[in-house]
Amino acid sequence: THVVTDGCIQCKFTDCVEVCPVDCFKEGPNFLVIDPDECIDCAVCVAECPVNAIFAEEDVPSELKVFTGLNAELAINWPTISSSKDALPNAEEWKGKSGKLSVLER
Ligand code: F3S
Repeated sequence: THVVTDGCIQCKFTDCVEVCPVDCFKEGPNFLVIDPDECIDCAVCVAECPVNAIFAEEDVPSELKVFTGLNAELAINWPTISSSKDALPNAEEWKGKSGKLSVLER
């Protein structure tokens, strides 16, 4: 599977969802996740993310490994998002910041 990580939190640019051929993205209040049961590892979303938040599971940096399980967990109850929408209002402000897990909304 592929995994959405820290960079997406408080940004949610949603460029990624537009290119996913199997609509595997799920949407939360300030973060998106990939449903590991749906992702076919095509990797087309990786280059779309303006903050490089998406990694193949085997390439997730060690400090971001917690996001692999988090994607699987949150994907269960969050709704599918298959079309892009406006980024969150303060996305530019949060862009490039790290350690955003403490502000993740579920
Ligand atoms: Fe998030 Fe990047 Fe997609 S910021 S919504 S993973 S394009």
